[in-house]
Amino acid sequence: MTVASAKGEVRVFRDLDELSRAAAGFFCEVAAKAARAGEVFIALSGGSTPQRLYETLSTQDYHDRVPWIKTQLFWSDERCVPPDHPDSNYGNAAAALAGLPISPLNVHRMRGEDPPEDAAREYEAEMREAFKVLPSEVPRFDLMLLGLGEDGHTGSLFPGTTALDDVTHLATSVFVEKLKSHRLTLTFPVINNAANVAFLVSGEKKREIFHRVMEDPSANLPSQRVQPTNGKLVWFVDEAVVGRNR
Ligand code: 6PG
Repeated sequence: MTVASAKGEVRVFRDLDELSRAAAGFFCEVAAKAARAGEVFIALSGGSTPQRLYETLSTQDYHDRVPWIKTQLFWSDERCVPPDHPDSNYGNAAAALAGLPISPLNVHRMRGEDPPEDAAREYEAEMREAFKVLPSEVPRFDLMLLGLGEDGHTGSLFPGTTALDDVTHLATSVFVEKLKSHRLTLTFPVINNAANVAFLVSGEKKREIFHRVMEDPSANLPSQRVQPTNGKLVWFVDEAVVGRNR
């Protein structure tokens, strides 16, 4: 089922498996279309939800439907840990995508092991280099994957943090008090400049926050600020998120 809302298009699926297959189809569709015009730029999201999507992309049904040789992979956010740490968004996605013909030169991870601010500045430079954009320009991703936290955060754009208002950098570091740790994240100017933004949200734990995002504009949640300027916003959610009697 698909419903249109002020917050984009909501596509509802039976469960995480079905959601992930639909998201994989969307991923392939966006990548194949972008590849007709040149290189493909995709930002992967972190956390647990998209892991099933990454595993699905590696299966027989999908793995050769993405022009991997022309695809540049980035991350929308990262934990400040080394790449081999179990919490690393890069490490988890790389493990799921390991069997695919992706050139290491096209994989742009945020260096979570470096001092956070250095890593953010370095990532910004790496993005500019890969996108070949001028200092005044904002890179335009073909696809930006995002998740939704129970507090309404997305990427590592957490409520009440300075990162929410950073409109001068493409990537920034932020200390998240509730996590007692630093994070690295793309900023809203980059997220909202994407041609396609896809949220993947699964499970009953996300029901309350999903409905607040969709139905309470006064909630002022970070994920409500994801409003692509000239792009498509699609929510891939399952029935556990939406709830049956809504
Ligand atoms: C991260 C994320 C974060 C995540 C949400 C949802 O690094 O954790 O990028 O924004 O997408 O917290 O996480 P789950 O998918 O694990 O619920």
